[in-house]
Amino acid sequence: MDSLETVKTVDIIYDDVSYCVPVDRTVLSALEEVGIHFIRSVGCRGGVCGACTILYRVGSDYTLKAALMCQEMVQDGMSILPLPFFPQRKQPHRLDLPESETPDYRVLNHYPEVNGCIMCGECTRLCPMGIDVMGYVGMVKRGDLRGASEESFTCVQCQACALRCPAQISQPNAAMMARRYHARYQAPQAEHLSKAIERIESKAFDAGFRRLRRLDEDELRALYQRREREPTDAHPGTWLPEDRSML
Ligand code: SF4
Ligand code: SF4
Ligand code: FES
Repeated sequence: MDSLETVKTVDIIYDDVSYCVPVDRTVLSALEEVGIHFIRSVGCRGGVCGACTILYRVGSDYTLKAALMCQEMVQDGMSILPLPFFPQRKQPHRLDLPESETPDYRVLNHYPEVNGCIMCGECTRLCPMGIDVMGYVGMVKRGDLRGASEESFTCVQCQACALRCPAQISQPNAAMMARRYHARYQAPQAEHLSKAIERIESKAFDAGFRRLRRLDEDELRALYQRREREPTDAHPGTWLPEDRSML
């Protein structure tokens, strides 16, 4: 372990208070180490849930940046603002459409503000996932739901793009609707998924679930800990568990 003298540190400002923290930390670990206890704004800790969005500037650099604090490393002179919640427009929608209506029209009809995009590029610049947000907004405008779905696929709903949009577009919600309609009406159905649904409907798994329901909490935990896992280096589609009773 490093002695105190050899630990390299940086100064960061969080919520207007300065802290001296070790250099090799994510913003989240550094803040927790100085005693900040997050009861919200943190979820998966793995860059997936989008709950831990921050805005920050570094030193005298005028550029405002957005990041996920569980992924971003601390930098000297970083001034950080947490973004716990940002109200976005979310249009309720049903997946079933009347025959007279196309999915691309429905998305545009629910989020007509995408037509007001002034192509400033601020959303794309800020996105911590490196998504071309302005690009997918343009695709929603043009009715290209497939393109919008593919471009926005890795969106973690961190809200940074919506926060800064001068046209007040809730980009992640428009994109989510585009993905849902694309999957429902345009994308080819996955064969293995259809087969799995058929098996569920034919009650193929009911006996297994009945068995699980009879276990108490300790037995369930033990079973979970003994579970077989696909090795990370297994070639896709080649691995099968020893216990195939639920396949
Ligand atoms: S598209 Fe917007 S909400 Fe999604 S990850 Fe990028 S900045 Fe966050
Ligand atoms: S921030 Fe808003 S107006 Fe600017 S490019 Fe993105 S969607 Fe368009
Ligand atoms: S805690 Fe989930 S993305 Fe950071």
